[in-house]
Amino acid sequence: MNSASAHTASITGITSKSISESIVVLDYGSQYTQLIVRRLRELGVFAIIMPHTASLQEILENQPKALVFSGGPTSVYDEGAPAIIEGLFESDLPTLAICYGMQLVAHSLDGEVTASSHKEYGKAVLTERRSALFDGVDSESVVWMSHGDSVTTLPSGFEVIASTADTAVAAMANTNKNIFCLQFHPEVQHSQDGQKILENFLELTGFSRTWQAEHIVESLIADVQAQVGDKNVLLGISGGVDSSTLGLLLHKAIGEQLLPVFVDNGLLRQGELELVSQSLRSLGLPLHVVDAKEQFYKALAGVTDPEQKRKAIGKTFIDVFSEKARDLEKTVGEISFLAQGTLYPDVVESAGGHGAANIKSHHNVGGLPDDLSFELLEPFRTLFKDEVREIAAKLGMPPAMKNRHPFPGPGLAIRCLGDITAEKIDILQRVDNIFITMLIERDLYGSTWQALAVLTPLRTVGVVGDGRSYGYTVALRAVSSIDGMTADWTRFPHEFLADVSNAITNQVPEVSRVVYDITSKPPGTIEWE
Ligand code: XMP
Repeated sequence: MNSASAHTASITGITSKSISESIVVLDYGSQYTQLIVRRLRELGVFAIIMPHTASLQEILENQPKALVFSGGPTSVYDEGAPAIIEGLFESDLPTLAICYGMQLVAHSLDGEVTASSHKEYGKAVLTERRSALFDGVDSESVVWMSHGDSVTTLPSGFEVIASTADTAVAAMANTNKNIFCLQFHPEVQHSQDGQKILENFLELTGFSRTWQAEHIVESLIADVQAQVGDKNVLLGISGGVDSSTLGLLLHKAIGEQLLPVFVDNGLLRQGELELVSQSLRSLGLPLHVVDAKEQFYKALAGVTDPEQKRKAIGKTFIDVFSEKARDLEKTVGEISFLAQGTLYPDVVESAGGHGAANIKSHHNVGGLPDDLSFELLEPFRTLFKDEVREIAAKLGMPPAMKNRHPFPGPGLAIRCLGDITAEKIDILQRVDNIFITMLIERDLYGSTWQALAVLTPLRTVGVVGDGRSYGYTVALRAVSSIDGMTADWTRFPHEFLADVSNAITNQVPEVSRVVYDITSKPPGTIEWE
């Protein structure tokens, strides 16, 4: 799967037939592009990202009712800076251009952008606002600026619609053509009324804003039925909310053609196998469980590099699925599809939509072999996690299961630093279980987006009773986040952390020290590997 296929594909899973209004966000390399998409979806419009290298035809295939240009790190004067897509202005689509997007509009038409060594970064207040785009925006409302270059000459047909103390053209518009340009970032939380501005843009350009995650269940089912026909589908279930929800959806869509497989890779949390198989079977999923612990441990033996671990796990999963498929085919006939609960952030993070670095190979996106013998079925690849949770609720998943923290496909392997052994996984399982159980008992589980424990190879000296101990250091991590793309560490009460630490050192003799990770993302990632 390459970045082009991840981004230029028309909306899969949800088609423009079933979504009457969509908006295409053209990505000029901003770190906030996904955030723009989220904000628009929160406002009831189905938004997708496309790269700035897409052709006009590819964009129009998605039948957008409007466009958004994201910001970006470059100057319009940089060599190789993204240019405007040929024919885009002639398409007469209403457009909201943000930051670099605004400079690109000015530069591509007959305006002028002036490069400046002085960078305006941070909060600013909009003055002299002259547009319905700012209706309902507080006069003291703060917006978030982050730019070096500025628009100094307006293109014909444009007028200034807002300024700040430092920037004369903080926003400009060509109202006849419905092109609105903002030098600041309405999508970030620091822009106090940013969401109102986005909402006003949607109102001004005639969106009816009826899109809701729960409405898409029926269209997803119809699309899956059309894509799969009478073929069989193998689904890898991880116990997480994404693959479990996909299981329920596919079961509803194609019934017995769905073959859900839960692989015990020996890297699961304590009691996970029993919990997941019981709860999914009680929801009607005919789960096939495969014990592949030995196969995974063998593939991981001596592997310490995080990327190698992920790749080894991804490959072993495919081997196990293929073996199981061959076995099942003896009774059900050919299996053509492999379904995965891949989400939009996985696609964007793994593919690096605009040439960004591949931070981690998410095993269900980046780790697939080129010669995969299944066709991939990924109905959620344009959805965010909270949208999947809404679908889960609609499909009858109990809240405790729907609201489970995310758990990575490679499991505890990427939380057990260094080489993997059954003994280390066992220690980590016990530590993790204490932490998660205490979070639930103290009613704190729902107050954090994801909580986890990491077993480090670091041994330190401790004192137990009258004796000396020399055990492992474990790290606890809990983060607050919206979709895992950015995160901050969760501020638990100190008493709670003290109690968890005591419980771990008392109940897990192999551990002599507990630390709490206070790194945000960025610069840290959520998982340690
Ligand atoms: P990072 O560590 O990249 O994690 O900040 C962001 C979110 O993604 C989860 N994660 C994964 N999920 N396969 C998955 O299914 C993976 O390979 C993977 N790596 C990270 C992580 O738990 C967090 O929720």
